[in-house]
Order: sequence, then structure tokens, then C-alpha cells
Amino acid sequence: MQPARSPGSPIGVFDSGVGGLSVLRHIRAQLPHEDLMYFADSGHAPYGDKTEEYVVARALAVTDFLLSRGAKALVVACNTATVAAIKAVRAKYPALPVVGVEPGLKPAAAATRNGKVGVLATARTLKGDKFLQLREQISAATQAEFLLQPAVGLVDEIEKGDLSAPAIAAMLEHYVAPLLDQGADTLVLGCTHYPFVRDGIERVLRDHARADVTLIDTGDAVARQLVRLLDAASLRHGTDGDTTLRGYTTGEAAALAQAFADLLGLNPAVEKVDV
Ligand code: DGL
Repeated sequence: MQPARSPGSPIGVFDSGVGGLSVLRHIRAQLPHEDLMYFADSGHAPYGDKTEEYVVARALAVTDFLLSRGAKALVVACNTATVAAIKAVRAKYPALPVVGVEPGLKPAAAATRNGKVGVLATARTLKGDKFLQLREQISAATQAEFLLQPAVGLVDEIEKGDLSAPAIAAMLEHYVAPLLDQGADTLVLGCTHYPFVRDGIERVLRDHARADVTLIDTGDAVARQLVRLLDAASLRHGTDGDTTLRGYTTGEAAALAQAFADLLGLNPAVEKVDV
């Protein structure tokens, strides 16, 4: 049984960890009057090296929790969870407005000049049927060639919180350089953690004299889709009153609080939960 939803109810946003904060910043910018709940499933991260069944079970458990806290809409701010589990979430809650994040193959195909697009994402995302179907469909429609690069271990490093760590710089070189060598002129950031290392990716591009490469991040488009779904369901909040932002995590509350401060300059209440 789902609780009654109204425009004053909060929006639930979740990711395996802090990556979804890169989507949350676009949601806050486009929907400044909404109450928001951010759930970091850090106790179970990364999702990218887990089985599809595991990610589905986590996505359903987190969704149940956010609904129990009154969520009127859900943003799956994680490519891996969207590819593996959004179908199961929608099947369980057909009336709930749900927005997911998928690697931006369509905008990348529109942006590429030579038809070669590199896709950086987790191993689970790149193996998922939903992603493979999307790739098939966009390649058939545009003739773009997608070069897939799983960035194994990168989410773990970003979760540690030191974005200037040499290990991150080394991984970015290791994963991005082969895509450049294969001629990619456009790179899709197919994981919501990656916008937080955009500076490091741009450094690799400069080191390879390829500052002309276009980077594709879908955070802004996801927030716009959320606005559309809220409007369609008459669930958009009015313009008055203060807003609240709450953080929940299955990891350490202090780590999520630190990530909010470091990545977004925010200091919301954060609670550790056992979900
Ligand atoms: N931010 C998640 C994504 O967009 C990371 C998944 C993971 O935990 O490996 O795919």
C-alpha cells in the first residue's frame, strides 16, 4: 500500500553512494521549492560489480524506504540501478513517477563529428540488456559507433572522498586514453559519480592534445524530465515556504555529511539507516 502523495511531499533521490549528488544539484537548481530526500546506499556500494538480482533487490528496498518516508516521486540517480532495476521498480509501483538515468548515447550521437563515441560506465551498466538495447537502437538510427569502457574501481575511489588522489588520476588516464587512441571525439559520462572527476578527465584530454573532445553528462536532462513528470501528475510544489533536504545512508552518516559539504557545499541532516 503506497502512502497518499501530494505536491508538498518530498522527492526521493537515490544512488549506490555519493554519485547521485551530481544529479541532485541539477534537481535543486530546477526545482528550488521542493523538499528532497537523498539516499546513499553506501553500505552496499559499488553496484557496478554486483549481480543484476542484487541491484534489483537493493533498488526495491531503497524505494520502499523512501516511500515509507512519504516520497511523491523517485529519481534513480544511478545508471547501474536504472539499467538493472527501473523496470522492477515501475512494475511494483506503477502509479509512482519514476525518473532514471541512462548513459547519454542519444545526445552523444548528435554531438559526435566523426561518429566515434566512447562510453565510460560501470561493468554492470555496460552488460545490462536495457543498455545494450539502447546502444543497438541509437547505432541503427545514427550509424554512431559506441566504444564501451568499463571503469572498474573508479566508483570506489571517488567514494573515498579525495578527488585529487593520484589513484583517480591514474585510473582516468588508464580508461580514457584507449578511447582517444581509437578516435573517440565524444565521451559519455555513463555513471553519476563521474561528473565529480570531470576536471581530471579534462586533464587527460589536454595531456593527449584532445581538448576538442565533447563530454556528455545527462544530469540536467534528468532534472528536466522530473519537472515534466511532476507537472503531468500535478505534483509540483508551490513557490512558498522553506524547503528541507535530508540525507540517508546505509554507510557512515559522517561520510555522507562530508560529501554533501565537499561536493555541493550543503549541510543537511544525515541519518544512518538499516535498510
Ligand atoms: N553512480 C552509479 C552509476 O551511475 C555508480 C554505480 C556503482 O555503485 O558502481 O552507475
